[in-house]
Amino acid sequence: MSTSAMDVRNDLLDGLRPYGQEHLVAFWDRLDESQRRSLAAEIRGVDLALVTRLYRDPGLPEAIRDLADRASSPPAVRLADREGRFASETARRRGEEALRAGTVGAILVAGGQGTRLGFQHPKGMFPIGPVSNKSLFQLHVEKLLAVARRYGVRIPLYLMTSPATHDETVEYFAAHRRFGLPEDDLHVFCQGTMPAVDAATGRILLDRLDHLALSPDGHGGMLAALARSGGLDDCRRRGIEHLFYFQVDNPLVEVCGAAFLGYHLAAGSEMTTQVVAKRFPQEKVGNVLAVEGRLRVIEYSDLPDDVAQRRAPDGSLAIWAGSIAVHAFEVRFLERMAASAEALPFHRAKKKVPYVDPATGTRIEPDKPNAVKFERFIFDLMPSARHALVVEVDPAKHFAPVKNASGEPSDTPESAKAQMVALHTAWLAQAGGDVAPGVPVEISPLFAMDANELAAKLTPGTRVTSPAYLA
Ligand code: UTP
Repeated sequence: MSTSAMDVRNDLLDGLRPYGQEHLVAFWDRLDESQRRSLAAEIRGVDLALVTRLYRDPGLPEAIRDLADRASSPPAVRLADREGRFASETARRRGEEALRAGTVGAILVAGGQGTRLGFQHPKGMFPIGPVSNKSLFQLHVEKLLAVARRYGVRIPLYLMTSPATHDETVEYFAAHRRFGLPEDDLHVFCQGTMPAVDAATGRILLDRLDHLALSPDGHGGMLAALARSGGLDDCRRRGIEHLFYFQVDNPLVEVCGAAFLGYHLAAGSEMTTQVVAKRFPQEKVGNVLAVEGRLRVIEYSDLPDDVAQRRAPDGSLAIWAGSIAVHAFEVRFLERMAASAEALPFHRAKKKVPYVDPATGTRIEPDKPNAVKFERFIFDLMPSARHALVVEVDPAKHFAPVKNASGEPSDTPESAKAQMVALHTAWLAQAGGDVAPGVPVEISPLFAMDANELAAKLTPGTRVTSPAYLA
């Protein structure tokens, strides 16, 4: 080993020793020059003090119980309340004014590893169109373009990737000319990473001899990454005051929905979030609740069963609001929060992470969870919002998560496609058309964004008898 390679190793060891992480350079002499450089850069990029602190602090389940005990129903626009059209029409008009004024942008988070789906590319490239086979990315961009066209504006898209998805996503958008999105309207930014640690010892895992087991730092990494990449400055420069936030894995999301934005604006809310009414107490969604006037989310896995079972006097679930991870943010709120480093806490999750055995150098594929990963969640911004609001939506129209691989019981590509077809079939019926039973139909957002727009284009009495894609 050359003297300079020894020096680098010794230098790294000095930094690692106080945290018991010396094993990270155990295979230094087996690496070539470029592998050493990249490993050294990765190690220097890790905040070892933070990782140590996060591993040692197991979180406080009692604190969750205490919170849950003090929780009440959040201020909400319920579906039932707006059936008397007036309220929702007023909100829609308010949202439309903001859209027309060009003060709304969109953030799409697509940095996740999509491990459950098991697709070999970024999840946004997954073909979801039930007839068209178009990808999630294409679908989302078309929705955005359709809204922009309707209101005669340009709506910038802030697209978050991670080191796991960045290069392929950028190439994919370039190869498809951004699906029609003007170059200036696409701002791709890459989130940060956190190392996975051995659950028993807290040692950072090596994925390969020259590479740490790093994974994206959670969708909450959006806040720091958007600020760091200049995204918030870009919003300010363009006069964007509100950002519509959505996730890549929901093909039913109503991108920049005017009524949703209108409720957000009318309430003077800094953060507004879409929820669905939970069907049963332990449904696997984040629970939105109010604690002393502040909204927050408690994950289903943290909600004590007796608290989840509580009922309101009318017999409905007391903790009823399940987050579907669609939010509206005031840009000023994000700016304020981005300025405080500790704005978002880290959560721990036990996961299966392949690793290199520090004793032998062999790579091991664990068959049960062996590691702790640390992630930030964007919904943890909620308690900091001076005003926050919950807007209930109908899951049949707004929420079709693509989480699991085909064949799993729920949230699969097949279940999401079936929901898309059901919604588009319903639009066709409302627009005076008819679809033969079992025949899939898909409507491009660029053809119609809703039943009303479809009605304006459809010849009454149209009957669909074979798979159809209206574009
Ligand atoms: P999920 O938490 O469902 O994770 O992400 P995932 O990566 O898609 O899938 P699994 O858990 O590995 O199977 C919800 C949304 O948040 C984004 C994802 O891309 C998805 O849009 N996300 C998640 C990020 O952008 N970054 C992250 O670090 C995590």
